[in-house]
Amino acid sequence: MAYNLLKGKRGIITGALDANSIAWKVAEKVSEEGASIVLTNAPIAMRFGDINKLAEKTKSQVIPADATDVDDLTNLFNKSQEILGGKIDFVLHSIGMSVNIRKNIPYVESNYDYFMKGIDVSAMSLHKMLSVAMKLDAMNEWGSVVALTYMAAQRTFPFYTDMADIKAMLESITRSFGYHYGKQKKVRVNTISQSPTKTTAGTGIKGFEDFFNYADALSPLGNASADACADYCVTLFSDLTKMVTMQNLYHDGGYSFTGVSSEIMQKFQS
Ligand SMILES: NC(=O)c1ccc[n+]([C@@H]2O[C@H](COP(=O)([O-])OP(=O)(O)OC[C@H]3O[C@@H](n4cnc5c(N)ncnc54)[C@H](O)[C@@H]3O)[C@@H](O)[C@H]2O)c1
Repeated sequence: MAYNLLKGKRGIITGALDANSIAWKVAEKVSEEGASIVLTNAPIAMRFGDINKLAEKTKSQVIPADATDVDDLTNLFNKSQEILGGKIDFVLHSIGMSVNIRKNIPYVESNYDYFMKGIDVSAMSLHKMLSVAMKLDAMNEWGSVVALTYMAAQRTFPFYTDMADIKAMLESITRSFGYHYGKQKKVRVNTISQSPTKTTAGTGIKGFEDFFNYADALSPLGNASADACADYCVTLFSDLTKMVTMQNLYHDGGYSFTGVSSEIMQKFQS
């Protein structure tokens, strides 16, 4: 059921690779809620992803942009304003990639070139996006930027390797830039800390399936789905959350504040 919460708003959605992507669900939901959007992804992702199907479904255009490239991002914000006919009201940063994870390299043996690449793609890209948007004055007052993160930024999850440190940086950029953008233009910047979700990036992590089941058994509400995450994004892009900024918001069915569940206790019964 749609509520027209984003009627007349213009947004940019990054990171929709295929129908499992969290960004895919967000693109669908924000369109249902009345927003007009532009989709973007890395030029290389265009070749093996399904983004054009999503563009057709949401009646949106696709602008390729490598999120590490300031020129690409400048083009993205300029063209999006042209296509959508005005300044941007919301941006979803849904970009994550670690070469160390892809290559199964243990955390203590991290390759530093890969580490730097992960930082650039998954954290610094948010800074670059916000900085480009600010320089171009591309956002409307009370605009909203949401980036997706994971709780490994606060607590250790050994399989998450360098992405844990990278997500901590992403959350820090959210606070630091959120301050400046709030002061300058009342633009708010938040992260959503999402449950494990079965996507290309998620399932690329070693032992993901086992951990997904563990998190589901620990969380009183179970794992939050990509669809539920998209609903949460809609609220943060809407005018109903105007005073929320610089926050890391857990969207995890209660996982982050649960010590143990009865299901897990049962497995250790003597
Ligand atoms: N899946 C999970 O369990 C989970 C949990 C918490 C947070 N997240 C976060 O959600 C976000 C979205 O991931 P997802 O799970 O939907 O997986 P996904 O693989 O569908 O999305 C990741 C996206 O990042 C894009 N990307 C990679 N490099 C890029 C670059 N240089 N420029 C532009 N785009 C680039 C990919 O093309 C892809 O579309 C990520 O930040 C991820 O860390 C995922």
